[in-house]
Formats: sequence, C-alpha cells, structure tokens
Amino acid sequence: MAYNLLKGKRGIITGALDENSIAWKVAVRAKEEGATFTLTNAPVALRMGKIKELAQQCNTEVIPADATSVEDLENLYKRSMELLGGKIDFVLHSIGMSPNVRKGREYGDLNYEWFMKTLDISAMSFHKMLQVAEKLDALNEGASVVALSYIAAQRTFPDYSDMAQAKAMLESIARSYGERYGRLKKVRVNTISQSPTRTTAGTGISGFDVFYDYADMMSPLGNATAEECADMCIVLFSDLTRKVTMQNIYHDGGFSSMGISPQVVEKLSK
Ligand code: NAI
Repeated sequence: MAYNLLKGKRGIITGALDENSIAWKVAVRAKEEGATFTLTNAPVALRMGKIKELAQQCNTEVIPADATSVEDLENLYKRSMELLGGKIDFVLHSIGMSPNVRKGREYGDLNYEWFMKTLDISAMSFHKMLQVAEKLDALNEGASVVALSYIAAQRTFPDYSDMAQAKAMLESIARSYGERYGRLKKVRVNTISQSPTRTTAGTGISGFDVFYDYADMMSPLGNATAEECADMCIVLFSDLTRKVTMQNIYHDGGFSSMGISPQVVEKLSK
C-alpha cells in the first residue's frame, strides 16, 4: 500500500545489485511513495548486476560511482541534482563488502590491506557521502540519510569477521555526522540494524543459513524481510520522523532484546 510519503522528494539510492538487494526494494517502494531518485553502484557492479532493469522500471538513470572515491561521489551528487532538478531530500547508503570475508580469511589471519578496504568500502564511504554532500551543499534542510547496519557491531558473530568493525564504525559515523549536520541544516543521519536477509552480501557470509535460522527462532516477530526493511527506510526518509537522528534503529523482529526464546530452548532440550 502506498501513502504518498515521499511525494515531491528527490533521492539517491546506492547498492541495488539485483532484485534481492535491500536497495532494490527501497527503490521500488520509494517510487510507489512518489519520490524521484537516481540509482548508483560501483562500475564493476553495473557490468555484473541488473541495475539497468531497475532504472527502467523506476524511470530513472544509473550514475556509476565507486563509493570510496570522493571524485565519483562529487559527480554523483552534481549529476543527481541536475537530473532531478534540485537538492536532495534522502540518501540510502546500502554498501558493504569485505575482501577478507569474500576470500575466506580467518579472523586470526586477516590481510590488513583488505581490512582497510573493508573499512573504506563499508564504513568510511558513509562519511565520504556525508562530507561531499555538505561541501557541495547538496542536501535540502531536513533531509534524511540512512545507512544499513548489522548487530555484529555490538555482539560477536565470528563469521562476520572484519565487517563487525566496519559496522561499528558506520554506526559511529551516523552519530558524529548526525550531530554536525543536524546543527547545520537539520539533516537527520541514522542507521537501520537489519535482520539477516538473503542477498548477495548476506549469503556471502559463511554459515549464513544458520545465522538466519537462529535469528528467526530468537525473534518474537521473526526475521525482518528486505521488503520490510524498505518500509522502514521510507518512514525514515519521510517527514514523519523529522526529529529522529543519530540513532541505530533495530529492525530485527525483537532479536536484539532477546536472551533466549522458547523455540531455542525446545531445540536444545535433550
Ligand atoms: P547486496 O550485495 O545486494 O548489496 C551490497 C551492495 O554494495 C552491492 O550492490 C555492491 O555492488 C555494493 N558495493 C560494493 N562495493 C562498492 C563500492 N566500492 N562502491 C559502491 N557500491 C559498492 O546486499 P545487501 O544485503 O542488500 O546489502 C546492503 C547493505 O545491507 C550492506 O551494507 C549490508 O551490510 C547491509 N546488511 C545486510 C544484511 C543481510 O543479511 N543481507 C543484514 C544487515 C545489514
């Protein structure tokens, strides 16, 4: 159901790779809610993914940008403002990648060059997106910037490896930049801590199916789906959350408040 929550708003959506991507679902919902936006992804993902299909469906364009490149991000904001006809009201950061996870390195045998890459791609890129926006004065007053996180920022999930550090940094950037941008232009900056979700990034973590089933069993409402995550993003982009900022919002069916659930007790009872 659509509520016109983003009518007249202009946005930038990163990270849609294929129809499983959380960003893909956000784009579809943002269109339903009346927004206009541009799509972006790393040049390599544009060759492999299906983002052009999504652009057609949403009647928009794809602007290639490696999120670690300040120059690419400057171009992204400038082109987006040109194409959409004004400053930006919402930005989705939906970007994560760890070469150490991808190449199966143990946590006690990390490659530090790759660790730096993990942090640059998955966390520092969020600061870059905010700093470039501020310097170009590309965001409207009261705009909303959202990044996607995971509870491994607070608790240990061994297979999540150096992505746990990246998510802790991502959430910290939301607090630090949220203070600055809120004071300067009433811009909101938040992270959504999402349940395990079957996407390319998600299923790239070894043992994903176990993460997924365990979280589902522990959550009174069950795991939150990608579509439900998109709904949460829309609410944060909308004017209904004008005073929500510098928060990490758990969107996880209750998982983060649980100790143990009856389902897990039953499963482990001999
Ligand atoms: P996905 O694989 O569909 O999206 C990740 C995106 O990051 C891809 O589109 C990829 O091309 C993009 N990306 C990688 N390197 C980039 C770069 N240098 N520049 C620009 N873009 C780059 O997977 P998903 O799950 O939709 O991931 C989106 C976000 O949600 C990530 O931050 C992820 O960590 C987060 N998240 C995912 C969960 C899951 O279980 N799938 C759970 C909680 C958070």
